[in-house]
Amino acid sequence: MIKVLTYGTFDLLHHGHIRLLERAKALGDHLTVAVSTDEFNLGKGKVCAYPYEERACIVAAIKYVDAVIPETTWEQKIKDVQEHNIDIFVIGDDWAGKFDFLKEYCEVVYLPRTEGVSTTQTKNALANLKSKKE
Ligand code: CTP
Repeated sequence: MIKVLTYGTFDLLHHGHIRLLERAKALGDHLTVAVSTDEFNLGKGKVCAYPYEERACIVAAIKYVDAVIPETTWEQKIKDVQEHNIDIFVIGDDWAGKFDFLKEYCEVVYLPRTEGVSTTQTKNALANLKSKKE
């Protein structure tokens, strides 16, 4: 069984997320998704529309996803790879090169991002709609 692990916020889910998860699962047999907690995101200056429990619930319902764990720190990745017997770490290529230190522990794959969509763009589009109404 080939086990795959990825990390992300997955707020305001969009097709870029789904395509990433589909390709991540296709690399193996079992996909674990580490969803970042609200506290971890706040530390990065990122405020989510949906709280962790709701984002984790949505991600867990996706057919490509076998398990969801919380991402609470930058430092947990080596421990996660070891504890979950991960063969492949995968993430979008906006992070290209950033997690090469994991190559000592598993295969590391950077997948091309889907063009033209992001949570930030969705948040901005919603803010524009609101301001047009006012
Ligand atoms: N991702 C992707 N294509 C996109 C957006 C995201 O492949 N258009 C991938 C990211 O590279 C990452 C995962 O989906 O591996 C989770 O990304 P996340 O940061 O939650 O989504 P973004 O839309 O990039 O969020 P934000 O705008 O807040 O940075």
